[in-house]
Amino acid sequence: MSFSVRVNGEDFEAEPRAGQCLRTYLRERGWFGVKKGCDAGDCGACTVQVDGEPVHSCLYPALRAGGRAVTTVEGLAEEGGELHPLQQKFLDAQGFQCGFCTAGMLMTASALDEEQLADLPRALKGNLCRCTGYRAIEDAVRGVRHTERPCAGQAVGRSLGAPAGPQVVTGTARYTFDVDVPGLLHMKLLRSPHPHARIVAVDTADALRVPGVVAVFTHEDVPDTLYSSARHEHPTEDPDDTRLLDDTVRFVGQRVAAVVAESEGAAEEGCRRIVVTYEPLPYVLDPEEAMGPGAPVIHPKGPESRIARPQDNVCGEAHGELGDVEQGFAEADVVYEETFRTQRVQHASLETHGCVAYFEENEETGEERIVVRSSTQVPFLTRRALCDLHGLPMDKVRVVAGRVGGGFGGKQEMLTEDIAVLAALRLHRPVKLEFTRAEQFFGATTRHPFTVTVKLGARSDGTLTALQFRVVANTGAYGNHGPAVMFHSIGESMGVYRAPHKKVDAYSVYTNAVPAGAFRGYGLGQVTFAVESAMDELARRLGIDPLVLRERNVIGPGEHMEGPLGEEEDLHIASYGLDQCLRVVRDALADDTSAELAPEGWLVGQGFAMAAIACGPPGGHIADATVKLLADGTYDIAVGTAEFGNGTTTVHKQITAGALGTTVDRIAVRQSDTDVVRHDTGAFGSAGTVVAGKAVMKAANALAERILSFTAEYARTPRSLLRLTAEAVECDGRTVPLKEVYEAAHGRGVELGADGHFGGSPRSVAFNSQWFRIAVDPDTGEIRILRSVHGADAGRVMNPLQCRGQVEGGVAQALGATLFEQVLVDDRGEVTTAAFRRYRLPAFADVPRTEVHFTETSDAIGPLGAKSMSESPFNPVPPAFANALRDATGIRFTEAPFLRDKVWRALDEHRRRPASP
Ligand code: FES
Repeated sequence: MSFSVRVNGEDFEAEPRAGQCLRTYLRERGWFGVKKGCDAGDCGACTVQVDGEPVHSCLYPALRAGGRAVTTVEGLAEEGGELHPLQQKFLDAQGFQCGFCTAGMLMTASALDEEQLADLPRALKGNLCRCTGYRAIEDAVRGVRHTERPCAGQAVGRSLGAPAGPQVVTGTARYTFDVDVPGLLHMKLLRSPHPHARIVAVDTADALRVPGVVAVFTHEDVPDTLYSSARHEHPTEDPDDTRLLDDTVRFVGQRVAAVVAESEGAAEEGCRRIVVTYEPLPYVLDPEEAMGPGAPVIHPKGPESRIARPQDNVCGEAHGELGDVEQGFAEADVVYEETFRTQRVQHASLETHGCVAYFEENEETGEERIVVRSSTQVPFLTRRALCDLHGLPMDKVRVVAGRVGGGFGGKQEMLTEDIAVLAALRLHRPVKLEFTRAEQFFGATTRHPFTVTVKLGARSDGTLTALQFRVVANTGAYGNHGPAVMFHSIGESMGVYRAPHKKVDAYSVYTNAVPAGAFRGYGLGQVTFAVESAMDELARRLGIDPLVLRERNVIGPGEHMEGPLGEEEDLHIASYGLDQCLRVVRDALADDTSAELAPEGWLVGQGFAMAAIACGPPGGHIADATVKLLADGTYDIAVGTAEFGNGTTTVHKQITAGALGTTVDRIAVRQSDTDVVRHDTGAFGSAGTVVAGKAVMKAANALAERILSFTAEYARTPRSLLRLTAEAVECDGRTVPLKEVYEAAHGRGVELGADGHFGGSPRSVAFNSQWFRIAVDPDTGEIRILRSVHGADAGRVMNPLQCRGQVEGGVAQALGATLFEQVLVDDRGEVTTAAFRRYRLPAFADVPRTEVHFTETSDAIGPLGAKSMSESPFNPVPPAFANALRDATGIRFTEAPFLRDKVWRALDEHRRRPASP
C-alpha cells in the first residue's frame, strides 16, 4: 500500500526512509516550526499532533504517520489565517523569550482538555523551556493578558510585546537551521576518547570509502594558528591555546577529525571508520592537583599564548591586597572562614550550537563570498576571528544570526564556525554543522566550577574589618573565558562590601576536563554563593539580623567599589537601588504567612542574599546603530546585537519610538547581520539595553533633530514650532506627513538618517536581592519552596513585562543550579550526563512563581535611566536558598547542588551527631 500523510491539510506521498522519524520527515518538507531540541523525547520542542494527539515527533516513526493527519504549529491557526486562541494568548502574556520551545508548548497545550488544564505541572511535564521560568507560559495558557497596546511617543516603560511574537507563535520565525540550502553537505565530528593524548596517526582511508563521504579533515589539514574559541572585543583577553584540529587532545570529547558527507548518516558512518592511533598522556582533573608539583603540563606553550604560568597549569591569576588583612582579622571580634564549592552546569539552550556556511555573490562588488548563518551571540567578533583564522578579507565573510534559540553566554564562543568554514572553503560547497544534544554537554562549554574560601572578620557591632577570598576556578582543558571569568567573579562580589582590609588570591586553572566558558553571571554567581552564605553565617555568630549586617556594610550611594585589585575606574554607581532591594526582603518578611503552607512536621526556614553586577563587561563593549526615515514614512533601526529572547529588539524599538514620537509598529529592526548593520561587540555582558540601547537612543535623538531641522527649512517654519508625531511633523497648525518629508529630502539629495555610538564606558551597577521561605521534609530531604520574592534594581524599567520575564527566567535557571543541575564527569573526565534524561533541567513543576519587585531608580549612564537585568537575577538565588536551608535545618550546605539525597544524608548525620555538652 502506498504511503500518504496529510500535514496541515496538505498531502505528502514520499515514503520515509527506513527508520526515519517524523521530525526529520516534516522538516525536510519545509515545516521548520518543528524544532530539534534533543532528539530523545525529553524536551518537547518537536511536539506535533497526530490525529489531534500531541507526540514527540523525534521519537515517532514517520511511517506510522501514514494515513493520518499531522498538525504542526504552522497548521494551528484557524481557517482564514486567524490565530488559534492559544497563539493569541501566548502573545498577550508574552509566554516566550527565545521562542524555541514555543511551537512544542503550543502543540501540547492546545490539545489539553479541562481536566489536564487543571494540572499544568503534569500536563506540560514533557515540554521544557530554558528561558521563561514557566510562569509566563502558565499565564498564557490561562489566558492572562499582560501586553499593552502601542501608543505614539509613549513606548518606554510599557509592556509591549516582542516584535517577532507573531512569527514565533506561528512557527515562521527562522532560527539558524530553518533554511533550505541546495546542495548542502553535512559535517560530523570524531571526538577524543582520551582525556590527554598525542595523536600518532590518523587513518582516514576507510572513512573516505563510505558512500556519500566527500572529505575528512584532520590536524594535518588545518592551519597551525593558535586562537581562543571565546569571543571578546579585545581578543587578548583570552589565551591563545586552541587549534582548529590539534595533534594533542586534552579532554574526552575534543574534536579530532571532521567528516563531511552528503548526508548526516554517511558523515556519522565516516566518523566510525576513522582509525586513530593515540599515545595516552598523564592527565589531571582536580585544579589543586593541577597546580601542584608533578602534575602533567596541559599547555606547554610560550608567552605568546598569554597563559599566566603554563608549567603550573595556571591559565590566569590575580593577587592583591587592600590594607592589611591580618591586621583586619586581629581587630575582629568574630572571624568566620569556610570553603564553598559550585558544580559544572550546562547552558542547555534548546537550540544547540551550529552553523551553515554557504556562498553568495556580494551585491556590491559582484564577487563571491562566504556566508555563515550561525547560532551565535557575537556575529561581528565571529567574522573577525574567521577572517584571521582563514586569512580572508572582511568583505569576503558575512556572518548572520537568524533568531537564536537561547544562548546564556554559551554562544559567546566560536565552536562550529571555524571548522565548517574550513570545509566549505576547501570543498566549495555549503556545509552544515549542528551539534547533537549530547555534544552540547561534552563539545560545548559549561559554567566554571569554583572552589571559594571566604574569610570574614567583624566587630561585635557587625562592622566588617576584613574580607579575604581564595578562588580557584576550573577552566577545563582550554582557557576560553577563563581569566576574564575569574577576574569578574571577584570584582563586584568584593566591591559591594565596605571593609578596610581586603585580600584576594584567585586562579583559573587548566584540567583535562570539558572546557568551561561564559555563562549568565560570568563567575559572579559562584563567588556570590560563597560570600553571601558566609555573611549569613557571620550574622548568626554575631547574633545580628543578616539584613542589618548587610545594611551596615554595603557601599552606599555615590561610593566607589573598592577591591584588593584596585578600583575599576569606569565603574560608577550611577543610581543606587540596593537599599530598596533590601527593603523588598524586609517587606516580604513583615507580612509573610507562607510558613503556614508547610506540611506538618516539615522544617521551615527563610533566607535571603543580595548581589551587585556591572552593566556591561569591562574593557570595551562597542555598539554602533543607525536609525533612518524610510520612503513610506516609517523608520528603520540597524543594530548589530543579536536577539535570542533577551528582548533587546523590543527595547530598541521602544527607545526609538519615544525619541521620534511614533509607535513601535512603525519601526523595523535589522540586526545581527554583518552585511547590513554596523559593528556591535555582541549580545553578552548584559549589554543589549545599556550599550546597544544607548547607541540606538543617540541615533534616534539625532535623527529626530535632523528631521525637524530639515522640515523647518522645507516648510519655512521656525524649528521651535515643529513637533514630531507618529506619522507626520506638525507645523504650527499644518501637518507635513513623514512620507512628504522623506520625498522632499530625497529630492534634495539629503538622507534622513543618523548614527549613534556607545563604547560601553562608564559602566553602571545593577543590584538584586532574593528571599525564600522553604520547607524541608526531615524524613526524605524533599524541599518545597513556600514563597519566592525578588528585588531588582534595573534603573528605569523599559518594558516591565519583559524585564520581569528576565528575572523569572534567571531565578528559574539559578534554582536548577541550586537544586539539581550538574554536569558529572567520571574519573577520566568524561561527561556522564550527556542527555536531558541524565541532566535534570527545571520543568514546569519545579519552578515556583516568584514575586518580582522593581526598585524606583533612574540611572545616569544607561539610556533613559535604564540598567541591565539579564544576568544578575541568577546570582543571589543559590545563597538565598542555602541560607533558607541553614535556617530550616541548622546545617550550612557549602556545596551546590542541594540534592534531595544530599540534604537527607546531612540531616541524618546531624541527627546522629551527639549533642554538644
Ligand atoms: Fe522556552 Fe526559550 S522561550 S526555551
